[in-house]
Amino acid sequence: MEPFRIHLFVCTQKKPEGVSSCAAGGSLSVHCALDREILARGLGGEIQLTTCGCMGLCDEGPVMVVYPEGVWYRRVQALDIPEIVSEHLCKGRIVQRLAWNDAAAMKAMSLEHGEQFRQMTAARDKAGVLPDRLNEMTRGFMSSRCILTALELDIFTAVGDGANAERIATRIHANARATDILLNALVSLGLLLKSSDNYRNTPETARYFVEGAKDNHRDGLLHTANLWHRWGTLTETVRRGNRVPVPGSGTPEWTANFIAGMQRNAKDRASLVVKVIGSAGIHRVLDLGGGSGAYSIAFAKASPNVQCEILDLAEVIPLTSDYVNKAGVSAQVSVRAGNMLQDNYGAGYDIIMLNAICHMFSDGQNRDIFHRARKALAPNGRLVVQDFILNPDKAGPQHAALFSVNMLVGTDCGASYSEAEYADWMRSAGFAEISRIKLPGPSDLIVGSAK
Ligand SMILES: C[S@@+](CC[C@H](N)C(=O)[O-])C[C@H]1O[C@@H](n2cnc3c(N)ncnc32)[C@H](O)[C@@H]1O
Ligand code: FES
Repeated sequence: MEPFRIHLFVCTQKKPEGVSSCAAGGSLSVHCALDREILARGLGGEIQLTTCGCMGLCDEGPVMVVYPEGVWYRRVQALDIPEIVSEHLCKGRIVQRLAWNDAAAMKAMSLEHGEQFRQMTAARDKAGVLPDRLNEMTRGFMSSRCILTALELDIFTAVGDGANAERIATRIHANARATDILLNALVSLGLLLKSSDNYRNTPETARYFVEGAKDNHRDGLLHTANLWHRWGTLTETVRRGNRVPVPGSGTPEWTANFIAGMQRNAKDRASLVVKVIGSAGIHRVLDLGGGSGAYSIAFAKASPNVQCEILDLAEVIPLTSDYVNKAGVSAQVSVRAGNMLQDNYGAGYDIIMLNAICHMFSDGQNRDIFHRARKALAPNGRLVVQDFILNPDKAGPQHAALFSVNMLVGTDCGASYSEAEYADWMRSAGFAEISRIKLPGPSDLIVGSAK
């Protein structure tokens, strides 16, 4: 008995460089396209989508199999997915141009491929070839740099509905030969499509990187492009022990991209945090370093009885006001320019939030902030901290450990911290009922009560 009407397996196996594989052929985009199409058609309850490892048919990849029928598709691309879903999965009509029916040839190819692969792996190991994992990690910056430059030059918008390299270069005021080289690399990374000399956006890049698209993330990702310059100072920063100033850092444009990046991260999480903390009985919220105001906006939208106050640096406050006004909650959310390390917080708050704040500061600065927050809370008020939290040994999880490096190159004394450190700061400041609340995604909450 099958628990699902259809079970799809998409091979997403990666192989050493130069060896054909479904991943190199674009199977991750195929998987994403399937996921999207199944969701869009409301088929999640009857179709199970699973990634799988090599089936030995790599030269014909990306390969996918439809069970229980046992229909095999080869050379599938993301653009084929709407047809496969509507024709085969919905109407039972196999897409013949992609189907592969020759079982004997498939088996022979699979066995031969497996043997070749084992021999090649053994030979590489014997010769002391650098393992792919190390190779890929070392050169990971190349793909990252291509996408960041494409975003900086707004290439995906310039590609529009399709254009050749010369036209794209003219639109972005760049050199045609260099643009063409970059465009081809973007095709190889699965970020553009190419037919003849015409480049087109993929469904993903059209959705997330093109000016005017509803889900365009470019403004926020330009903050990541800015971080590139800071990360370039890492070697020198580690030698010196403190950050190396980077030209352009802190300009109005840099700040606007930074806050846009924060807003993109916070938008989805804010309603989740408000749900977990609850808005019933909450009247006054102080949002320290509120940035785009995403969390205060979510609180205001959750309850008409909540009044929020955002404290942020003077250069950020005009941006904060814009976000708050656009969200239509200015009657419930006020803004205040100030420095949370020096200024008085006020008194009588039910909630004080520190979302993505503590990693900017040192142990001593955080202790001081927690003490002052404790004094500014109403008797039963709560301090809500959200951050990337390190394991006790500080060597993971990876996103928190890498973020600590981001703070090393970007701040005077910031870092990621462990749960034990947060709990210690809370206890020292007089908080009780300290708990960690796990959230989906990379950051968690630490909550303490001012009882
Ligand atoms: C990483 S962002 C987090 C923004 C927001 N809480 C969120 O999660 O989306 C840090 C915020 O703290 C603000 N900030 C940094 N130092 C500050 C200080 N000394 N006083 C007040 N705000 C500060 C920054 O301007 C920025 O808006
Ligand atoms: S990598 Fe997919 S079949 Fe081998």
